[in-house]
Amino acid sequence: LAVDPFDLVVFGGTGDLAYRKLFPSLYRRDRDGQITDPSRIIGVSRRQLSRDEFRKEVSEALEAHVTAEEREGDKLRRFLDRLDYHAVDADHDEGWEELRAAIADGLDRVRAIYLATSPNLFDAIAHGLAKFDLITPKTRVVLEKPLGHDLASAQEINDAVGDVLPESQIYRIDHYLGKETVQNLMALRFANVLFEPVWNSAHVDHVQIMVAEKIGVEGRGGYYDTAGALRDMMQNHILQLLCLVAMEPPSAMEADALRDEKLKVLRALKPIDDSNVRTLTVRGQYRSGVIDGKSVPGYLEELDGVDESTTETYVALKAEVQTWRWAGVPFYLRSGKRLPTQVSEIVIQFRQVPLSIFGSAGGFLAQNALVIRLQPDEGVKLYLMIKDPGPGGMRFREVPLNLSFAETFKGRNPDAYERLLMDVIRGNQALFMRRDEVEAAWVWADPILEAWSRLGQPPAPYTAGTWGPSSAVALIERDGRTWREDPS
Ligand code: BG6
Repeated sequence: LAVDPFDLVVFGGTGDLAYRKLFPSLYRRDRDGQITDPSRIIGVSRRQLSRDEFRKEVSEALEAHVTAEEREGDKLRRFLDRLDYHAVDADHDEGWEELRAAIADGLDRVRAIYLATSPNLFDAIAHGLAKFDLITPKTRVVLEKPLGHDLASAQEINDAVGDVLPESQIYRIDHYLGKETVQNLMALRFANVLFEPVWNSAHVDHVQIMVAEKIGVEGRGGYYDTAGALRDMMQNHILQLLCLVAMEPPSAMEADALRDEKLKVLRALKPIDDSNVRTLTVRGQYRSGVIDGKSVPGYLEELDGVDESTTETYVALKAEVQTWRWAGVPFYLRSGKRLPTQVSEIVIQFRQVPLSIFGSAGGFLAQNALVIRLQPDEGVKLYLMIKDPGPGGMRFREVPLNLSFAETFKGRNPDAYERLLMDVIRGNQALFMRRDEVEAAWVWADPILEAWSRLGQPPAPYTAGTWGPSSAVALIERDGRTWREDPS
């Protein structure tokens, strides 16, 4: 289980992502014995901090983001001992020499360089790494999202990084791919014989993918207002989920085989543009409301000093994968902030039985559904029609075969970043996006964004704590279908 000793350099090392996710994840891997001596973790940012000041900040971050039960004194100390800090100003070529000297004795180790900064620094950092000779044959550069805000900017980032490193050394993170249940989707499809024969338009009526969040934009309004839900969630996380649902079986669980199949799905997405954007997409923006009995502010109030914004915090759309397997099967996608509950799930809704032999006595026969719950309460439910017990005749009820991961596998479910960080060290690119995938996703997203702005489709207001604008209900009900509300 343990990985070979490595040096991990985190640019943006004093930022939100590093403190909330990266260091807590690394600590947990260290605590479980996966990180071996003499591995080092080096924080980098523009701030001038001593090593001790940095360790203190990380220690406070662990205090806030790791449970008390997980914080073990000696293991915390061991982890903090691995940390070092260097200030680098990539825009002004300052601090590189010191950083190089600090890791110069680690030439034979894996050198992972994590760019958790704003993407407009990726170019300067990539070229700084090359200019100051920090790239070794075992260097891997990890790129955090957002990977651009449209195709052109994504290409610029990819060109800049591609200038100094081959694709085999570039790891583009989409943290959804590290989620346990997302990987289970592949297990479900390709380690079982039951599903694949019915995984097509002959048996599947439609697919729904939903990522609902209770949180608003938190302190990230500056970024979010230039992005919006389509860029923030759909173009990456939700499309990646769609790919895993829709792709053909790869020939092996090997990075390029998998990514080739996902790419084919992205390229087969039906274009949404000026001609159909109004019927296929819905945008929304939350107003103040109540969630869990507490009043929450509206989007504009959460943004500092902005009176007006046409950024969407909710998006619902109907996608289609134009392949033989999926032609005619709608993929309804939706994601929003300030919805009533935090839940992410994928629903495979199967077709109706061809004929009900039970007549009206049986009552309505619901369609089977496979519900894959990503979070919270990870699990898989297969909804079946079962006879209601008792002598009342053939009356049916929809009941789930329920596989709850928490009950079946006791123990903690590792955070996506734990797995992905260790995959970088091991050199496994399977759960990272290849350049052509990211760009293909933008090829689909760009015309939607352009159509919205050209046709002036402003986001419809919705009250925080509700399921988004009513037009989102209309989007699916027009097709005689409904958003699935999981009864549990
Ligand atoms: C991030 C988005 O990529 O994913 C955030 O930028 C969002 O806006 C987050 O809140 C959701 O991730 P998770 O793992 O909490 O579902």
